[in-house]
Amino acid sequence: MAASLMIEVLDDPDLVARRAADWVIEHASVPGERVALALCGGSTPRALYCLLANDPWRAQLPWQKIHVFWGDERFVPHDHPDSNFRLAQQSLLDYVPIPPDNVHPIPTRGTPQAAAASYQEVLRRYYGAARLDPERPLFDIVLLGLGADGHTASLFPGMPTPEPGVWAIAVDREPPRISLSPTALGSSRASAFLVVGADKRGALAGLARGDTRLPAARIPAAGEWRCFADAAAATDIHSQAEGRS
Ligand code: 6PG
Repeated sequence: MAASLMIEVLDDPDLVARRAADWVIEHASVPGERVALALCGGSTPRALYCLLANDPWRAQLPWQKIHVFWGDERFVPHDHPDSNFRLAQQSLLDYVPIPPDNVHPIPTRGTPQAAAASYQEVLRRYYGAARLDPERPLFDIVLLGLGADGHTASLFPGMPTPEPGVWAIAVDREPPRISLSPTALGSSRASAFLVVGADKRGALAGLARGDTRLPAARIPAAGEWRCFADAAAATDIHSQAEGRS
């Protein structure tokens, strides 16, 4: 049963990033030896990543046990300006004491199909099984962006829905992309969309009403399911929680 989406509206993008940073700390501060964090790409999360790379947030995160994954990647070299790995590396990972072996970038060499299959194996090795158990999510935290067309990760409108057993797919775009599947993205204790800007108004309104024509509305989230949005993106909806400002 998918969880119901809790939308918090904050006054501006900076407050969205601060609220999301506090939320990440809340959900990373869990017992256990490992915390699996899936990052998203695009431009919105940069502000969040910069906050997490600096105190007070940096000091509150258990970097030694955090494992970083990506929800999607553009099939470009990791030093390419469009790389989601490069975004995280330059705004967060270069500034925190995360063990290098805990950083799991999506491969972008060879073919997109082979890269997707390879990352699926990385995820299954980390998880310790080839089938996801609803009682034991793959991730502790999943961060997601929202495109103006309602896409999330690299799951775009009109794409066929991957089979439930598939955790990572190659997406035929220019450049090609690798994306986690809805099943993998939904296998998380806590997930949050970061949505900023008036251009996201329509997509956020669709997400809020559960319009399953939008890939973002088709993620089968089982755990805590949040959206942190700024007022410009949330013009057409009402906050379901007092945005902390
Ligand atoms: C990507 C992201 C993608 C992104 C949305 C929103 O690789 O681009 O995974 O899903 O989150 O397109 O992008 P912005 O944050 O730039 O609006």
